[in-house]
Amino acid sequence: NFILSDNRDLNGLSVMVTAGPTTEPIDPVRYITNRSSGKMGYAVADAAARRGARVVLISGPVALNPPPGVEVINVETANEMYSAVMDRFSMVDSVIMSAAVADYKPKITANQKIKKHESTLTIELEKNPDILAQLGKMKERQVLIGFAAETEELVNNAMIKVERKNLDMLVANDVTLPGAGFGTDTNIAKLVFPSGRIVSLPKMDKLSLANHILDELVILRKGKE
Ligand code: CTP
Ligand code: CA
Repeated sequence: NFILSDNRDLNGLSVMVTAGPTTEPIDPVRYITNRSSGKMGYAVADAAARRGARVVLISGPVALNPPPGVEVINVETANEMYSAVMDRFSMVDSVIMSAAVADYKPKITANQKIKKHESTLTIELEKNPDILAQLGKMKERQVLIGFAAETEELVNNAMIKVERKNLDMLVANDVTLPGAGFGTDTNIAKLVFPSGRIVSLPKMDKLSLANHILDELVILRKGKE
């Protein structure tokens, strides 16, 4: 789009984007993960770079090409993503956390492939760190934007997360709506703010949603200057 690519309104901004799932190994050949294509985060990183931001993309395992002009850091586990994000947090002014971080990981990763001896197998899980909640505790001048995929009580759950994680905005997606689910090229999102303001967006492709999110980021950044 000629008009969008000509708009350099993020010049001078330094944005960290996370994208994709994390994978949490069970043994050398297996892992648990979340459903996430990474398309939304890659669209945000691509659009931000086109609009002039310096962009670092912390990416879980996805089957997507790196967007042009974006520094990509590849990670696998939630703990690796946590370290990559924390290492760079003080150097950015905005974080857009679109990754589908696994909430739990196997408590023990087997050194050898688990053989199918027993008729049932129990894998004990333990909680991963909440990266965004930690950023919410550390944030000074940064704008923090989170994502949430919900199947019920969209706005209620979103407001709780905005407060709990000290966010400036949450992009809430009802994944039960047609055209909003996983692996689709479209989203139906609500932008939820700590003031209680809610912007309900119509169904749109992920690049358009990325640009709506970045329009709000421009306004949120101005509010911090
Ligand atoms: N998130 C994170 N670290 C985690 C889990 C989530 O940084 N360990 C981030 C996600 O990237 C997203 C936001 O927090 O931007 C909300 O994620 P979500 O899964 O909706 O919230 P949770 O706090 O994990 O709550 P629940 O899954 O129980 O709804
Ligand atoms: Ca979660």
